[in-house]
Order: sequence, then structure tokens, then C-alpha cells
Amino acid sequence: MTAVRPVRLNRRAGLTAGASLVGLSTPGTAFAVGEPASMNRQDHAPGTAPPHRPGLQVAPPLRDLADARGIRIGAAVASRPLVAEPAYREILAREFSSVTCENVMKPSFLQPSQGRFDFQAADAIVAFATAHGMTIRGHTLVWHNQNPAWLERVAASGENASAALRDHITGVLTHYRNDGPVPVPAWDVVNEAITDTGALRDTLWARALGPGYLADLFRWANEADPDARLFYNDYGAEGMGRKADAVYELLRGLVQDGVPVHGVGLQMHVGIGARQSPSRPDLAANIARLRALGLEVHVTEMDVKLQTGTGTDDERLDEQAKVYADILGTCIEAGVTSFTFWGFTDAHSWIPGFTGKPDGALPFDTTYAPKPAYHALTRVLAGG
Ligand code: XIL
Repeated sequence: MTAVRPVRLNRRAGLTAGASLVGLSTPGTAFAVGEPASMNRQDHAPGTAPPHRPGLQVAPPLRDLADARGIRIGAAVASRPLVAEPAYREILAREFSSVTCENVMKPSFLQPSQGRFDFQAADAIVAFATAHGMTIRGHTLVWHNQNPAWLERVAASGENASAALRDHITGVLTHYRNDGPVPVPAWDVVNEAITDTGALRDTLWARALGPGYLADLFRWANEADPDARLFYNDYGAEGMGRKADAVYELLRGLVQDGVPVHGVGLQMHVGIGARQSPSRPDLAANIARLRALGLEVHVTEMDVKLQTGTGTDDERLDEQAKVYADILGTCIEAGVTSFTFWGFTDAHSWIPGFTGKPDGALPFDTTYAPKPAYHALTRVLAGG
């Protein structure tokens, strides 16, 4: 069977603010008959998801395959396309069993001014997830980015900083308590607290609260909701290396001290090309040692940049598919219980904004057609 690959990488130019991204880019993406869910974009109206046609469907959706393997498969979700784009909603509900709010559970959204919590945007995403039988990963209670100005001021002043942060954690986890109406079972308590060289990151919180602050965050969270599963989340600590060692040592210490930490999130923002993603043995070894501490391991933010590689578009998309497949396969074998992508469509990926370059880091392209990466992921989940 000869498969025609979608050959074009994303083109993000020429989009006006507020315009639907669906159908305005990547003209002519086509899949040959025989590809799973043959999704020639000419077959479906702009703004709607390419149909799943049972006759051509080789593999069931990711979430069905993932259920059979005992793993959650998730995506980070943005509010705007969830409201504006039917295709976004359809694919999200069909393919994924877990949801992370890409932004709206961060402190700047949840507590825009002191003492005034705003759960509206986050609750809309939670409601969608609940209606579709998806679980929710809360992200993130404490970070050095995306804090409201008032909280930064309080942290900088040093006065009442710990009370303000504790109140934030308590307010959020009380709203999302697991014995309440809007349960969120797992939370990234703190994000990116270690530097690339393995030191404690010098953040507003480390400065305000002192080097022992991480243990307090988990204790406060545990007091607010004893049923929430509490995670440490970071990037660049997936394989073996200085940073992974430091994250491991941090967690080993917390566990030893009886701090209520239950898991580790490996973000997995990786790329194609040499040394842009962890090797399978390194990743397996790191997951194994974290699990040996009694911790659950989640992959929380995976995407695979194309801009770090070379070759034709086809070659890069195939290499991307291999990176996705290798990492998912390794993670399933190593006992990872939740595997989340940072988005799912190239129409709404943070990578071009973050790197300043066009890319195509996710398993669906800008027209919502599945890429080689998607098919590779289904094969891994199907056990092939
Ligand atoms: C990113 C979002 O994707 C962007 O929309 C936002 O502007 C900045 O934050 N690591 C994380 C995520 O833990 O919260 C970040 O999300 C991406 C890197």
C-alpha cells in the first residue's frame, strides 16, 4: 500500500485575529485510501472535523486504544477554539480521555485580584471534559510565570507571601475538591522549580519563602484536598542527566520526609534531530527510578518540534512519528499512567509563538487531518 503523506508543513501567515484557523491553511492535504480514517479535507466542510468513516477506519480513536492499555491519553485545551471550532470539540472528545487547561487554571486566571477567584473559563473546560467522560489534570498551582501582578507584588514584598500563596492553593483546591461538585483528581502543584543545571530555580517563590518551600506547597495542597493526587512537573528531566538527577533527588527527599507528593509530570517538549529527545533506555531508566520511589509518572505536555531537524517535509514528518511512537511505547512499557500532548492540532500549538518559527509539533495538522504521528501513536497503542 502506498500512503500519500500530508506534505505541507504549517503555514500560519495571513491569518487575521479572531479568524477561524480551520480551512485557511495547508491546502490540499490528502490521505490515500487505506490510511486510517481517510481524511481528505475536500470531504468535509471547513470548520468541522473530518468524519470518521467506519469503512476506512483501520484503528479506533486513541482514547479507546489507550483504555485497553490502561493509560489515559490527554490534550491541553485552549478556551477560544473550544468555543469557536466544532472540529476542535469533535476531535478532542473523540480522541482523548484526559484534559489539561493550557492556561486558564494558572494563577493569573484563577485569582486575577486578591481574594477574587474566577473559575468561569476553567469550569467551562472541566464541564466539557466531564460531559465526555474525560478526566482532568489541574495545571498549575505554583509557577514563576503567569502570576497576577498583585501576587508578584506580594511575593516581592516578602510580607504575607506564604499566606497569599497558601490561600491561592487552598481556594483553588477547595473549589475543585474531589468530594465536591467539580472534582479535579490530579494537580501539578509546582511547575519548573529546578534549573537546567539541577539547582533550585531562583524564583519569586524561592526568594520569598526560602529553599524549603516545595515541601510546604504539597502539604498545603494535601490539607485543602486530601484526595487530590499531587505532582511535581518539569521539562528537560525526562531522560537521564543533571536535571533529571536533581528532580529525582528532590522527590526522593520529599518522599523520605513524608511529604504528600504522589507523582511526577515529565513535560516532554522535544524535537526531531540528534539529541532532541531522550533515548529509550534513558527514559525507561528514569521512569523506573521515579516509580521505585512509589510515585506515579505522567507525561504532561508532549510535542515534537520539526524545526530542530533536517530533510524533506515527508522525512521530517516520518521522523516526528517515530519520536512520538518511541516515547509512547517506552512510557507504556515503563508504567506511565497518563500521556498528554500540549494541544493536539498544529492550528493551536504554542511552539511557533514560543520559538518564533513556524512548526508543526502536534499529531493533527492545521486542518485537523491526522499526521503520520497520529497513525504511529495508534499503532503503538494497538500494540503493533
Ligand atoms: C504555555 C501555553 O501553552 C501558552 O499559551 C502560554 O502563553 C504560556 O504557557 N510549560 C508549561 C505550560 O508548563 O504551562 C506552558 O504553557 C508551556 C511550557
